[in-house]
Amino acid sequence: MPAPRRPLIAGNWKMNGLGAEAEALATDLARRTWAVGAPAFELVLCPPFTLVARVAAAVAGSGIAVGGQDCHTEEKGAHTGDVSAAMLADLGCSFVIVGHSERRADHGEDDTLVKAKAEAALAAGLRAIVCIGETEAERHGGRTLATVAGQLDASLPVGAGAANTVVAYEPVWAIGSGLTPSAEEIQEVHAHIRGELAKRLGTDEAGGIRILYGGSVKPENAAALLTLADVDGGLIGGASLDAGGFWSIAESCV
Ligand code: PGA
Repeated sequence: MPAPRRPLIAGNWKMNGLGAEAEALATDLARRTWAVGAPAFELVLCPPFTLVARVAAAVAGSGIAVGGQDCHTEEKGAHTGDVSAAMLADLGCSFVIVGHSERRADHGEDDTLVKAKAEAALAAGLRAIVCIGETEAERHGGRTLATVAGQLDASLPVGAGAANTVVAYEPVWAIGSGLTPSAEEIQEVHAHIRGELAKRLGTDEAGGIRILYGGSVKPENAAALLTLADVDGGLIGGASLDAGGFWSIAESCV
């Protein structure tokens, strides 16, 4: 039997936030979590590198996890400006996002690099959130399923399993646009991803891997998009910067 999948709601703050507001946001979410006791969902906050330590301190003891938005493939060395997975773990992170489409576009990251980053994350004891998703042209060309299957095949880390890897399906055209696929389209892609995972890892392991949907998730559409059979939570960008909205998205998914 596949392990039950606890919904995961990840806040991707992107390049937003300065100290005081970030601390207020994280503290608000920690208070809400304490008030509930043991929520049915798991929360992870992924602030910019500069805020990781401050956010980790603000949520300490609440059960909220902290993650990075990227990591280098190497543990240390001559890579000016980069941050390693080991450094994130050292700051209290337990997750890291790799292969976000903004990094693929802004920094020319390809699947091979994303895979190496995910493997570095696993080696450092972090859980990797591996992002995949089709462009608008690929969607219109009927290549969505082939695109995500290809990205998954080339960017899934060696050693991936339910305990250390999360897949985030984020259609590039849905990110920050206010547009989303229909619920049926999202479920179709997620089921396809799970099928591809099963081919590589077996049905049980694939049945335990959490597959998040991301792209214009808001409190208004979260219940419809995040409770689908093969959707195990969300990767939330813009709406994760508001504590009340982010919390309401998390509550919608259980
Ligand atoms: P969005 O971003 O929720 O602002 O669309 C999602 C993401 O890029 O992770």
